[in-house]
Amino acid sequence: MNYPVWEVPGIGLPWVIGIIAIFHVMISHFAVGGGIYLAVAEAKAIRENRRDWLPILERHSKFFLVLTGVFGAVSGVGIWFAIGLIQPEATSTLIHNFVFGWAIEWVFFIVELSAAAVYYYTWRRIPDKLHMKVGNLYAVASVCTLVIINGILTFMLTPGTTWLKAAGTGHESAYFWNAFFNPTYWPSLILRTLVCLSLAGVWALVSFSRLDDDTFGKAKVSMIRWSAGWLLPAFVLMPFMLGWYLYMVPRENQHLLELGMTTIGSGAFTQITRIALISVISTATIVGIVYFFAYKFPKDLTYGHALSVLFIALAATGSTEYAREAVRKPYVIGSHMYSNGVRISEVDTFNRDGYLTKSMWSPGKDASQVEVGKAMFRGQCLSCHTAGGYRSMRAFLADRDAKAIGNILKVLHDHKLDSPYRYYMPPLVGTQQEIEALQSYLLTLKDAAAPTKVARK
Ligand code: HEC
Repeated sequence: MNYPVWEVPGIGLPWVIGIIAIFHVMISHFAVGGGIYLAVAEAKAIRENRRDWLPILERHSKFFLVLTGVFGAVSGVGIWFAIGLIQPEATSTLIHNFVFGWAIEWVFFIVELSAAAVYYYTWRRIPDKLHMKVGNLYAVASVCTLVIINGILTFMLTPGTTWLKAAGTGHESAYFWNAFFNPTYWPSLILRTLVCLSLAGVWALVSFSRLDDDTFGKAKVSMIRWSAGWLLPAFVLMPFMLGWYLYMVPRENQHLLELGMTTIGSGAFTQITRIALISVISTATIVGIVYFFAYKFPKDLTYGHALSVLFIALAATGSTEYAREAVRKPYVIGSHMYSNGVRISEVDTFNRDGYLTKSMWSPGKDASQVEVGKAMFRGQCLSCHTAGGYRSMRAFLADRDAKAIGNILKVLHDHKLDSPYRYYMPPLVGTQQEIEALQSYLLTLKDAAAPTKVARK
């Protein structure tokens, strides 16, 4: 434990990152797709002399300015606060490897923001050609932010063997490019680009469905139709790219998905499978609605239809993102660092010398056993569990007595190859005394709960 542990009762730490990150993903993918959409649509309008499209695009671009400038920036900074507080050890590792990548990303983000502002405020004020150039700059800069952040995000799932060999030697950053272009880099980049494109199309439908028929009649219909045609191919390709991506995910993590499949309805970990299903089903639903309401009969598209497509698309994006995070369990950096900040390479040392001994955040020498146990719980379990809220320890322990809890802790500690927990929980590390202290602390949690049922055998 090199860092203090932050505690968020109720929703727990995973959801603090989850909520901010999923919100940011939606916004940022909109922004990247929107940049491309605007540039392509404006070029088409000018090339084909559809000048009635331009006022519509102008209105539409205001939204992207607010989106990137306000919500994108704020939620992006929010992610930094959240990961710094919740995953300090992993954040430190990422910064040590990718500080240069992040610096570049921020440069592109500033270019993107500035270009979006110039783009919006110069409609009808500068020549078409110049305005289109600004739009292209906005599109390219926003794609570049994705190109860069995708390397860092995919690294966390699949750091790749070259980087993993160097991990811990102090020479990790010499393998920047290996870490960056890691095994899931390309499938993820293509998948995300498709998500960006389709979300941009969905948002266009929402925005255009509200246009007044009398003022925008013809242009409205042609733009709705064009936007539907724009998003359908991306939606059709997405499941294939998702398949490619999952194929590149390490076997160990794929097992999490299979575990979900085989235990559906009964098992420990069916959420991931359900979520994978949600994303496939919702994609199919969107294709159906968009094809019939927006593509075949664009006049019939109402604001309500468009909003429902938006809602399903966001749900699909959110749940896919959740599944991506979940598939990484029990690691925060694949095959290198567990979600609670313990590195695989440190496990033996912690077991021999103690988990708390070298930490400045451990309770003092004369701390009670329960206090020691609480520190163990905070350091090793809180990154995924809470005492009484999300993945509640109290609920899990409700019908287990001291012996049963001791057995579970032993299974967690031994981390044997056939342990069902090793696919989603890190090994419990520490000396025998520390583990017993954790057991005592867990028992106090249980005692705080309502009278419990009979002990499990
Ligand atoms: C990487 C995240 C993660 C960490 C860290 C973690 N767990 Fe878990 N734990 C899970 C997940 C996921 C489940 C399954 C939840 C479910 O079934 O809904 C789980 C389930 C459990 C269960 C119930 C198991 C059962 O069979 O009923 C217990 C007990 C438990 N964890 C204890 C702990 C303890 C003690 C620690 C700290 C030493 C810990 N966990 C650390 C993710 C984690």
